[in-house]
Amino acid sequence: MLCKIEKIDPCERGCLFKNEEIMKIAIIGTGYVGLPTGVGLAEFDNQVICVDKERSKIEQLKQGKVTLFEEGLEELFLKNLKEGRLSFTTNIKEAIPKADVVLIAVGTPPNPKTKEADLKYIYAAAEEIAPLLSDFTVVATKSTVPVGTGDKIEALIKQKNPKADVEVISLPEFLREGFAIYDFFHPDRIVIGANAQRGFDRIKKMYAPFEGKTNFLCVSRRSSETIKYASNAFLAMKIHYANELADFCEKAGAIVSEVTQGMGLDTRIGSRFLNAGPGYGGSCFPKDTNAMAYMGRQYGADLSLVAATIKGNALRKKKMAERILAQVEEVKNPKVAVLGLAFKGGTDDCRESPAIDIIQNLLELRPDIQIKAYDPKATEQARKILGDKIIYETDMYKAAEGADVLAVLTEWVDFKSLDLEKTLSLMEGKKIVDLRNMLSFEKATQLGFKYSSIGRV
Ligand code: NAD
Ligand code: UGA
Repeated sequence: MLCKIEKIDPCERGCLFKNEEIMKIAIIGTGYVGLPTGVGLAEFDNQVICVDKERSKIEQLKQGKVTLFEEGLEELFLKNLKEGRLSFTTNIKEAIPKADVVLIAVGTPPNPKTKEADLKYIYAAAEEIAPLLSDFTVVATKSTVPVGTGDKIEALIKQKNPKADVEVISLPEFLREGFAIYDFFHPDRIVIGANAQRGFDRIKKMYAPFEGKTNFLCVSRRSSETIKYASNAFLAMKIHYANELADFCEKAGAIVSEVTQGMGLDTRIGSRFLNAGPGYGGSCFPKDTNAMAYMGRQYGADLSLVAATIKGNALRKKKMAERILAQVEEVKNPKVAVLGLAFKGGTDDCRESPAIDIIQNLLELRPDIQIKAYDPKATEQARKILGDKIIYETDMYKAAEGADVLAVLTEWVDFKSLDLEKTLSLMEGKKIVDLRNMLSFEKATQLGFKYSSIGRV
């Protein structure tokens, strides 16, 4: 088994770097991972072709329109499209035969019943790839997949095309939405799960511009698949712990932001992912913690910390809705202003958004409620889920107009600049529930708001 680690200070990286040898890369799945990855690899001078089943998505991309919001994506996308290094197709036959590396970046959604990762898109992609493989090709899984999936992909390809000269690699992706482009160019580490040297070598070649600039960790395929789930579950647990601490602080008279700041200064703990809030969301932490718990049960290994995190996080979103409703208990037909619909700031993604969950809880618990919401980027995605059950506004102040209570549900930086005096003059009530601790506690209370934040009373 290969096991190699090279440690380099990520802060000492230079600017941009190009691949000395141009590689032909095919990406299957052009979503939140596939598109930024394709754009980043094209920026390294590689020839990248992105494949997707969704015809309308590919048409838009071909016409130079980005299909998702990510800071810095559009500029790099247009540049590489114009310079001919980036292309798009719905026809996988145009992409695979010439590729040196095929990256699989399709979704791995949760099975609605068991919550295990549903691998139907992975296996469908592998089946389509198999007959098209000609010269030596590396097929690398960027999607988050359960331990042992690489073995199954390999077996499937060999069965469909016994002559295929292929190495199946696990290449987990660690980018965060909202920072996808930044994270592509500044990875903390590149984990390569390979069972043979030549697969490892080709992926290192693809990432040659990072050589000497980040940590390359080459491990067994199964370890690599586990690293991805273990990392996401750990981060989710860290957030859940901060949320539990917030509840404790509210009861004990401490201030959670001060407590987590104090903890985070200990480099063994680290300051990141300790922001208490309404519970974590997104297309990954909820599904990946559930998939990890499922794997634990499958292998008979006790992952009780993961199980407690999942349970606590689900409960938290209900409690947050109750916290908002407690402010309008006495009000008939209460009007709530909501700031934020995306699952986090910096993205238009609403998958498993705590904001959406909380709104759905509010609507269920108080059918007479009226909700006016504003989000800088996620309105259209939210509309697909909530339809006309709420009113969508075009700025923060329009949402606040006439509201009995204002609730901050997403950590958009823009919300920090909310003019509290103006907001007060527009609202009917004087109540704020700030589930992201974005506003100034002192200013809000000075102005006479009844201000409820997280982890401080
Ligand atoms: P996504 O839903 O945004 O994109 C997946 C795309 O794959 C869709 O456009 C879909 O049409 C396409 N697709 C499905 N089957 C296909 C096929 N056979 N051929 C061509 N296209 C096909 O998903 P995503 O958010 O990009 O996530 C992809 C994977 O990456 C998941 O496993 C996820 O857990 C993992 N991941 C996501 C992130 C993130 O920030 N979103 C970060 C790290 C890892
Ligand atoms: C997360 C991981 O951070 C990435 O490393 C990983 O690649 C990705 O999942 C994935 O596997 O898809 P992402 O879901 O984009 O990235 O967003 P995060 O920044 O991790 O936030 C997830 C959720 O946790 C959000 O709802 C966010 O608001 C919440 N959060 C985050 C907190 O409540 N507190 C924090 O301190 C940090």
